[in-house]
Parts: sequence; C-alpha cells; structure tokens
Amino acid sequence: MGITVLDHPLNHHYLSILRDRTTEPEEFRNTTRRLAYLLLTEATNSAELEDYSLETPLVAATGRRLARPVVAVAVLRAGLGLIDAVIDLIPDVAVGYAGVQRDEETARPMEYYTKFPDMTDRTVLVLEPMLATGGSLSWAVERVKQAGADDIVALCVVAAPEGAARMERIHPDVRVVTAAMDSHLNDHYYIVPGLGDMGDRLFATL
Ligand code: URA
Repeated sequence: MGITVLDHPLNHHYLSILRDRTTEPEEFRNTTRRLAYLLLTEATNSAELEDYSLETPLVAATGRRLARPVVAVAVLRAGLGLIDAVIDLIPDVAVGYAGVQRDEETARPMEYYTKFPDMTDRTVLVLEPMLATGGSLSWAVERVKQAGADDIVALCVVAAPEGAARMERIHPDVRVVTAAMDSHLNDHYYIVPGLGDMGDRLFATL
C-alpha cells in the first residue's frame, strides 16, 4: 500500500509549530489536533461511499455517506493526541486502545493493555503519531489484524525511514499516512529532527 507524506502548506505550518521546542503543551495539543484533521482527510480520501435517499427543503435527492463503519485505535499514549479530530469528523467512530510501552534499552514494544471494538467489515485507523523503529505500530497492526481487521490505515505525525521500511516489509497491505518523513533515528531511537517525545509534549510530563 505504501506511505503517503502530506505536502499541504497547512501541514508544514502546523508541523513546524510541533517541532519547535518552545511550543507549550496547550498549543502543542491544539496543533496536533489541527494536523490530525489533515491526516484524516488524506487517510479517508478513497473511502467507499453508498447512496441513500433524502429530501432537501425543495426536492427528493440522493445523498452519499460512508459505506463502512470506522474504528480508530489509539496507540497509548501519544495516539490520544489524534483522537479528538477523528471523533469530530466521524462522530459515530468506535474507539479502541492499544497500550504498548517502549523498552528504552531495546526499543522493543511491551504490551500492557488492549481494548478493541468489533473490527470486522470496518475501516480501522491506527493512530500512532511517531513511526520511529516501527515496533509499536507493527505490533498494534498485528493485534488489530488478529481481532479481524483487514482494511487498515495508519495515521502518523512523523515517520523515520527505518519505521516506514519495517511497515512496508511486515504489513505491505497497510497504508501509512504521515505529515513528515524525517532523516533518521538517533542512538536512543528518537526521530531526527523529529519533535522529541510526543507523549511528554502532549501531556506535559517532560
Ligand atoms: N517516540 C516519540 O515520542 N518520539 C520519537 O522521536 C520516537 C518515538
């Protein structure tokens, strides 16, 4: 499926605010939400529609609506930063959570919590803002596949080539939409230039 890197002027504008180390948590959260609208718009750009009958104040007409229900799975905790925008644009979305912790020594994912709604015959959006090594995202995608998902799009804010390559290798059927493709990972598996620790910056735990 491959990776889509957004190239909209608003995307660059919001992303630069997120990258700036002087951006305070409140602005960081609001800007993440604004960026999430753009990511979601791109992620749903080929969503299937179905016709239905409606009446305008003037005549009978045909409306169009999303044909498949949508599920969003927030990878804890940074994925929570994207969830408000998804609920706002798709109010009947069902929301699940995937709790995975990064082992700071090895960067391997360690599961601590999952709660998923029904995934069958649904479009599943996996919200994982930082695609670094790809360990957390590929783990989350594996878990939603085990739960029955087969139509999956991942929404990321920043990706590293290492994580993108891992997703392409392990989950070639999953489309990844990201606001940026950065240069590389540092020795601590942080994305460079990146924006630091997304969870810490969203939740003021620096
Ligand atoms: N997770 C983050 O929050 N930031 C990174 O740079 C990598 C993983």
